[in-house]
Amino acid sequence: MTDSWDTIADWYAGLLRAGSALNDFNRDVLLGLLPDVLDGCRVLDLGCGEGIIARAAAARGALVTGIDSSPRMIEHARSAASPGPGSQVYAVDDGCVLGTVATGSLDWVTAGLSLNNLPDLDAALSAVRRVLIPRGLLAFTVPHPCFEAPHATWTRTDADGQVRRVVGDYRAEGFWRSDDPEGVRRAGNQHRTLSTYLAALIRRGFSLETVTEPWPSDRVAAAQPRRAGLPPFLAVRARRD
Ligand SMILES: C[S@@+](CC[C@H](N)C(=O)[O-])C[C@H]1O[C@@H](n2cnc3c(N)ncnc32)[C@H](O)[C@@H]1O
Repeated sequence: MTDSWDTIADWYAGLLRAGSALNDFNRDVLLGLLPDVLDGCRVLDLGCGEGIIARAAAARGALVTGIDSSPRMIEHARSAASPGPGSQVYAVDDGCVLGTVATGSLDWVTAGLSLNNLPDLDAALSAVRRVLIPRGLLAFTVPHPCFEAPHATWTRTDADGQVRRVVGDYRAEGFWRSDDPEGVRRAGNQHRTLSTYLAALIRRGFSLETVTEPWPSDRVAAAQPRRAGLPPFLAVRARRD
């Protein structure tokens, strides 16, 4: 069977519920792009998965709608929805269309590690622009494009015996699937270069407010020492012009 996000949803939910250092770090990086208090803010979490970002935003008081194309992910998100102070509702939807979301209805869109799964980035950013209010904000993370390109690997160097990242096929934009049976990219994902992400934002009418490459937290570095010197994510906050 070829894996998809729906077929690995139970595995992914189990991974996060067990306390994945990398995914907790991603949540904290993304939430770090938002205000500490979100009382009454209307937030769409695009590609919400099992709801890790949506729950955190709701805990700050946001009124969160989480959408995901995987029905099984949405089942997990609904079953884990936490009570107040904000709220969470979830729906199956395609992030390239956002057909369930009304035009101009949102203050924020968050997208944690999801834009890199969408086949059409321009369509997704157009949809995000449509659902945001004027001057609304998009905050997202993607696996760092420079270090998580197709077929990136690790190698021990002859010179000093250190394990270092081999970049892989950075130029090979498009769909690729990892053959690692334990890896999240066995469901497939879309590689894009760093400039492709930033240029698409500008083209679709967003102004960049923040671009960061956060260093791994101590917890991530302890769990995955080889990653200690590399930013695992690219994090961006952009405002709808
Ligand atoms: C790596 S998971 C991230 C989930 C969650 N944001 C998190 O931080 O754990 C990527 C998510 O994107 C979703 N996804 C993939 N393609 C999508 C699409 N076209 N529209 C909406 N969601 C999509 C997947 O189902 C999956 O839940």
